[in-house]
Amino acid sequence: MRYVVTGAAGFIGSHLLRTLLDRGHDAAGWDAFTDYYDPALKEENAVGLPIERVDLVEDPLDLADVDGVFHLAGQPGVRSFGLVFPTYVRQNILASQRVFEAAVVSGAKTVLASSSSIYGEAAAYPTSEDTVPRPLSPYGITKLAAEHLAHAYGKEFGLHASVVRYFTIFGPRQRPDMAFTRMVTSLADGLPFELYGDGTQSRSFTYVGDAVEATIATMEGGPDGAVYNVGGGVEVTMLQAIEVLGRVAGRRLEIVRTPRAEGDVARTAADTSRIEADLGWKPRISLEDGLEAQWRWAADRVAAA
Ligand code: UGA
Repeated sequence: MRYVVTGAAGFIGSHLLRTLLDRGHDAAGWDAFTDYYDPALKEENAVGLPIERVDLVEDPLDLADVDGVFHLAGQPGVRSFGLVFPTYVRQNILASQRVFEAAVVSGAKTVLASSSSIYGEAAAYPTSEDTVPRPLSPYGITKLAAEHLAHAYGKEFGLHASVVRYFTIFGPRQRPDMAFTRMVTSLADGLPFELYGDGTQSRSFTYVGDAVEATIATMEGGPDGAVYNVGGGVEVTMLQAIEVLGRVAGRRLEIVRTPRAEGDVARTAADTSRIEADLGWKPRISLEDGLEAQWRWAADRVAAA
């Protein structure tokens, strides 16, 4: 099949594009190489991948003859209040609107990457897709807006779109601002890790390989309008994750406590029964195995530097 992956030089996008190519698809990436984090890391992710430099808001978007677009590009990070707000609107809403317009013209099926952040402090745990969304961060709010936009383009203009809501994806090449990459690099460098809050906040951490499988399964079999949680099997607190890392790395991570970050939810827990029933997907990689892979990736990088 012919696919385009937006945000292909990012953490999840680069894993997804590689997997699509390995499976023999005719896949290409678009990425604006924005400076949310050091673009040199994105250049590194992009090595060996066919990625074109494209700004989704300004550049012409041509999806003619493309079977499907995986729309992963966006401004990430839940700690997103303040002066950066317009950037979230631009990268998550304006960019998505242009991708949907192009996909309507070409008929390309669209899978939109959304986020567990749209739930905020959810009304119920584990959280199903039907839970009323109440995002707490500008990031979550703009992701939810993109979901609504996909729905409206589906109803009004026939966009073939499905949504995946990712729950804190981790693994090698995870973004440098995210907790696990900070943990493994701090440990490899022998530096302390800044823990926000008391460490009892919990997440359905999800291994990137599992997220890639769910995303491809949604492209291949998700009906129009489908919305799926993509979450790891167990909910783990930050303190538990730090303990697991200590076990797999064979060393203890030193912790410095700092105040809770605004926009940070206390809990995420994914109910993934819908995607399992519809597409047969469920998470397969344990936190322990995934963290070990991420630890090895970080330790190798530090050793090579
Ligand atoms: C992550 C991603 O950053 C979002 O882009 C994504 O959409 C979101 O998951 C999601 O699933 O919706 P988050 O769950 O906050 O957001 O993931 P991390 O950045 O890995 O943080 C996990 C926990 O560690 C949070 O409670 C955070 O406050 C904490 N943390 C993070 C620290 O204690 N110290 C740090 O240096 C970074």
